[in-house]
Formats: sequence, structure tokens, C-alpha cells
Amino acid sequence: MATIQYLSHSAFLIKEDENTILIDPFITGNPNNVVKLEDLNPNYIVLTHAHGDHLGDAIEISRRNNALIICVNELGVYLSELGINNHKMHIGGAYNFPFGRLKFTIAHHGSSTNDGRYMGEPAGVVIQLKNKTIYHCGDTGLFLDMKLIGELNKIDVMLVPIGDNFTMGIDDAVIAVDFVNPELAIPMHYNTFPIISADPFEFKSKCEAINKKAKVLEFGEVLELS
Ligand code: NI
Ligand code: MN
Repeated sequence: MATIQYLSHSAFLIKEDENTILIDPFITGNPNNVVKLEDLNPNYIVLTHAHGDHLGDAIEISRRNNALIICVNELGVYLSELGINNHKMHIGGAYNFPFGRLKFTIAHHGSSTNDGRYMGEPAGVVIQLKNKTIYHCGDTGLFLDMKLIGELNKIDVMLVPIGDNFTMGIDDAVIAVDFVNPELAIPMHYNTFPIISADPFEFKSKCEAINKKAKVLEFGEVLELS
């Protein structure tokens, strides 16, 4: 059985059998963090883009346990310069990993280091586990091609940014859920900082108003997927 744990912000920990996949591990400096960095020992780290609240502690974790970081090419080149184990991909490409098939999708956002080095395009990611498919939108505004992502994949769980300002706000996020039509939508990227304050229960009720199921996860909460 697969599980997904919401670590807060855009960070999730997926477990299935012997595989542990950590997405966008923003731990240090995250006021909503509830886990200890040293307790995170994933086999894989998936990065949607290089902004500090997504790249987060990925380099330190991978240095410690040699976790394979899966990311777009330009960010991977940067990681290779640092000697970090990584698998470079790009938008529209998929690859069969031991845990399942992973494909990067478009996301409308930016991706650079704090000192301005270009880190390639930001991305979303579709991860097909044995029986469940998860779509992590990354940081993005609403885009019509989300309909295509929903048509090409039967999405079981959609992880949707709702915090506004840098990404979709609640109303656009609800439209995104309508486009993708997942079995379950889970809000993310909210209330980490005052500028992305949002009420996840408003998102949930607005999803339910269009007959889409949504669930608000507590920081640290684990959800069983099958
Ligand atoms: Ni970002
Ligand atoms: Mn962000």
C-alpha cells in the first residue's frame, strides 16, 4: 500500500514498498515544518524547481544518504557540479524508475537560484505508482493544458497550490481541479508565510460545490492511498 504524508508547504513524502520519494523538501526555515531533517531518508527526491522553498534541504539530504534527485536538466547540471546524485529530465519526458513512471509537466512560474542563476523551466510532475497516480502541480498559475494532463492520466491525487501571489489562488485552483478531474485534490503552498495566507477549507468547500472531492491534510498527516 502506498502512503503520502504532507510535510507542509509543497513538501510531500510518498512511500510504497521499499521506495520512499520526497518531493520539494523545504524543511529548514519552514515555520510549519513538523519533521526532523535527520529523520528523512528517502531513496528519491523529486524537485519541481530551484526556488529555495522547493529545493530546500534536498542537497543536504542527498549528500547524507546519496538519494537520487530527479529534476529538470539545468537544475541537474547545477547539482552535478556540486557532486550530487541526480537524474536529469525535461518537460514532456517520462522515465520508468523502480517506483514507477515519472513525467514532468509544464508549470507557469520561474526557476533560479537566489543569486540569479538560471535553473531551467519550472515543472509539475505526474508520478505513477503501482496503483495510484499523483499529480504535483509545482508552483504554477492556472493553465488550460491541465485539461490535457487530466485526459492523458487518470489522476488519483492532485496536489494543488492555493496560496495566491506566487501561484494560483483558491478560485483558480478550483478551476484547475475541474480541468484535471482527480479522485482527490489536496491543497498545498499556503500559510507558510503571511503573503500566501489562504483558507484550505474554503478551497475544499469550493471544490465540493462543483462535485470534486478535496481533503485538507494537517502538517505531518499521513494519507493511505490504497
Ligand atoms: Ni517557486
Ligand atoms: Mn514556492
